[in-house]
Amino acid sequence: MAIFLDTGKLEEVQKYHEMGIIRGVTTNPTILLKDGVTGGMEGVKNRSIEIASFIAPLPLSVEVTNNDPKMMLDQAIEFSKWADNINVKITIHGPKGELDNLTVVHELETKHDVRINVTAMMSAQQCFLAATAGATYVSLFGGRVNNMGYNCISEIKKLRKLLDDFFLKSKIIIGSTREVLNIVEWLEAGAHIVTTTPNLIEGMLIHPYSKETVQMFLKDAKFFEE
Ligand code: E4P
Repeated sequence: MAIFLDTGKLEEVQKYHEMGIIRGVTTNPTILLKDGVTGGMEGVKNRSIEIASFIAPLPLSVEVTNNDPKMMLDQAIEFSKWADNINVKITIHGPKGELDNLTVVHELETKHDVRINVTAMMSAQQCFLAATAGATYVSLFGGRVNNMGYNCISEIKKLRKLLDDFFLKSKIIIGSTREVLNIVEWLEAGAHIVTTTPNLIEGMLIHPYSKETVQMFLKDAKFFEE
């Protein structure tokens, strides 16, 4: 699976999808706001459907906009009907640590056949519980973990081992990328997927010495064209 694109911009999705290097897209309300989605929930629906139909059958994550259990349940069912490849993001708990979220996740996965991406997690233990509840994806925010002063690589390793040892089906998504090197180092540590921004993919791809080498080839190739 490897790389997902963390964006709400259709043109960015098109660019990297056409290069064949992304295997899915993730969004959240903050990304959609930053990426210019307007028009309330209708705007969210339209942008989500545009992205989902462009990348189908690859998955798109769309996050619920509320933390009321009934509203999360209803929204998740509604979002999942927008397109077959939409999965729904639900945070690990509420803004004050409310515990209803995993109940909603479990119900959606087991009774409503909705694929869930449990998000905003900062530790392997949170992800393990979300995976046990039946989440299809568990999202650990690597950059935020590192910013708190501990290395997310040890969380990724611990989590991958737990999922494998207990035969849990969840796929690990590491988000919150901050540096180019995060992508490969987090995949190497055991993440199934790293979701990242276009600028970091460009950083992976473009190398000054490759540029110089290509310039040399093109300069010398002129000899044959004359
Ligand atoms: C992951 O799915 C999230 O959308 C995202 O990577 C969060 O990143 P941030 O820490 O930059 O908000």
